[in-house]
Amino acid sequence: MATISTYCPQFNGLRRSCPNLHTNNSQQSQSQSFLQHLNSQLRLASSSRRPCRGAVTAMAGSGKFFVGGNWKCNGTKDSITKLVSDLNSAKLETDVDVVVAPPFVYLDKVKASLTDRIEVSAQNSWIGKGGAFTGEISVEQLKDIGCKWVILGHSERRHVIGEDDQFIGKKAAYALNEGLGVIACIGELLEEREAGKTFDVCFKQLKAFADVVPSWDNIVIAYEPVWAIGTGKVATPQQAQEVHVAVRDWLKKNVSEEVASKTRIIYGGSVNGSNCAELAKQEDIDGFLVGGASLKGPEFATIVNSVTSKKVAA
Ligand code: PGA
Repeated sequence: MATISTYCPQFNGLRRSCPNLHTNNSQQSQSQSFLQHLNSQLRLASSSRRPCRGAVTAMAGSGKFFVGGNWKCNGTKDSITKLVSDLNSAKLETDVDVVVAPPFVYLDKVKASLTDRIEVSAQNSWIGKGGAFTGEISVEQLKDIGCKWVILGHSERRHVIGEDDQFIGKKAAYALNEGLGVIACIGELLEEREAGKTFDVCFKQLKAFADVVPSWDNIVIAYEPVWAIGTGKVATPQQAQEVHVAVRDWLKKNVSEEVASKTRIIYGGSVNGSNCAELAKQEDIDGFLVGGASLKGPEFATIVNSVTSKKVAA
């Protein structure tokens, strides 16, 4: 490990950056071949994208760690008051964007009672301007109460409610055009993984976003394998990393190198206080989208603070 820190020694915040190196050619090629060896051990997806990588603790992207809590259709006035109070008193690392997504009926109250340190997100939004759409919530209304984000494309909306790529794309485009940030969810079903279609499914869902969004400035991608959501069956760090690398490569090839670098790619699916640190160490995992474990304030704080597992002595 000493060789790595000599070769690529600086963290920029949480990030490892590549300064101009003052090594002679033979030192450099020795270090490079060691890095190449290490990379081949660590990386499941073959990629020669980034020359200065190689430590599992580095962040591949340049975006800030992001942790979202998706409360789904859970909670009561009492339980949510307690959760907000636990979150307000939690000690959270500063290097993390923290967002929670309460059910709509509590969103305004949570926004008003939650510390400014934590932003709120909606769990859905309408495809266009509000009006005669019974049961829907408009982007304008979300902005009116100070909501900054919306989760779109979640597997429960895709597979339980029946939303398709095109419908989700419309919602994303409208929300982004109106200035909301979008947590854009993608992920494969178990049978799709078993049929070797994980990348195909994720790329198709990504393309549906890419085809319509005005810009990637305000998008966080959440990779959430459907078989891992709410099942207690978390993806291994390697399984998650493999897809995150592929997603970043897809962005690089199909959008731009800059977008690939700055877009946060977060993992979701049975993340909890015990497995978050190992997942967070993966260099393409830029944070988490958390369901069940986000309903417990102290455990959610542990997940937010797993960013520290990316910080190791250089
Ligand atoms: P889970 O849900 O953490 O309960 O698996 C994650 C999600 O659906 O975002």
